Amino acid sequence: MNLRSLTGIKPTGMPHIGNWLGAIKPALELTKTYDALYFIADYHALTITPAPEAMKNDTYSVAATWLALGLDPEKAVFYKQSDIPQVFELCWLLNCFTPKGFLNRAHGYKDKLAKNKELKKDPDEGINMGFYSYPVLMAADILLFSADVVPVGHDQKQHLEFARDFATRVNNFYQVDLFKLPEPRITENSQTVVGLDGRKMSKSYDNTIPLFCTEKQLKKITNRIITNSQDVEEAKDPDKSSVFLLHKIFLDDAQAEDVKKIYTAGGMGWGKAKSMLFETLNEQLKNPREEYNRLVADTVYLDEVLKKGAEKARAIAGPFLEKARKIIGVAS
Ligand code: ADP
Ligand code: TRP
Repeated sequence: MNLRSLTGIKPTGMPHIGNWLGAIKPALELTKTYDALYFIADYHALTITPAPEAMKNDTYSVAATWLALGLDPEKAVFYKQSDIPQVFELCWLLNCFTPKGFLNRAHGYKDKLAKNKELKKDPDEGINMGFYSYPVLMAADILLFSADVVPVGHDQKQHLEFARDFATRVNNFYQVDLFKLPEPRITENSQTVVGLDGRKMSKSYDNTIPLFCTEKQLKKITNRIITNSQDVEEAKDPDKSSVFLLHKIFLDDAQAEDVKKIYTAGGMGWGKAKSMLFETLNEQLKNPREEYNRLVADTVYLDEVLKKGAEKARAIAGPFLEKARKIIGVAS
């Protein structure tokens, strides 16, 4: 049996370049050598309580993105988290082994608390229990399928540490080898991708470059990247420029060196830098964009793909959960 690679993406808006570099691209690479289980984390998205239409459309959008970028649903198990009831039963089991104080230390929760404090609001305002126990659900996603590696961006590192911790607690308590300890797969170039404003690119900061939009929109968005106010003649420091940092992602080493020289030589305005970035991006996204547009309109096909994937996933999840139920003493 091959080793397993597993990852999930939330349907909370159009996937962006950060998602592609941090999660999708490395995950696709792993399908060559691992058995892949890739899913749409819709019940994680529910923690921000989106409108039903948004939930539905964003789910199709994430599904079409994976397929347009090359995921083969015949080879990988590709499914929606909410179609796998065993995830939620396992989540409860893990909840009962999760010290509350542990979740108090979760980055997402702490960020929210800090923001509330800054705004002089009640510390727990806007924080539901789903959000609070988000890392437990994520651990259930991973441990249910005995994943060996989990390709994710740098920001998910703590969640993987939690999953390993929960797994160890349960294994130790029952003196069993039920859960496999998952390894995060954070490749060098999946370090955080910067957004239009220089912060981490994230849907929650509204600073993303979406993977698929019209050429015209892409041009407009790349023009919005914040730069300093240096004049055209001045030499620019490529490593301090979001425009270059984004451009570099799509270039090989030799190409990146060439572009660097243009920056450091002076005589290049930011408009020119942005248009070079746009050209590179557009060239690479042109074909998948067409495929995405075709797929996202074919919701019957997408439903069918996800349904078949869920059947395959449940065939793995069912027997595993049964084993867990016996170990904890609720089934014989
Ligand atoms: P967002 O922050 O936009 O809501 P998600 O939390 O849905 O993105 O992230 C989905 C996957 O993409 C995760 O594995 C995450 O680590 C990765 N990812 C998201 N943003 C970035 C980024 N700016 N750089 C690298 N990886 C990212
Ligand atoms: N928390 C991840 C994110 O925000 C999404 C996710 C949910 C996930 N379950 C997962 C990622 C399991 C990897 C494995 O990006």
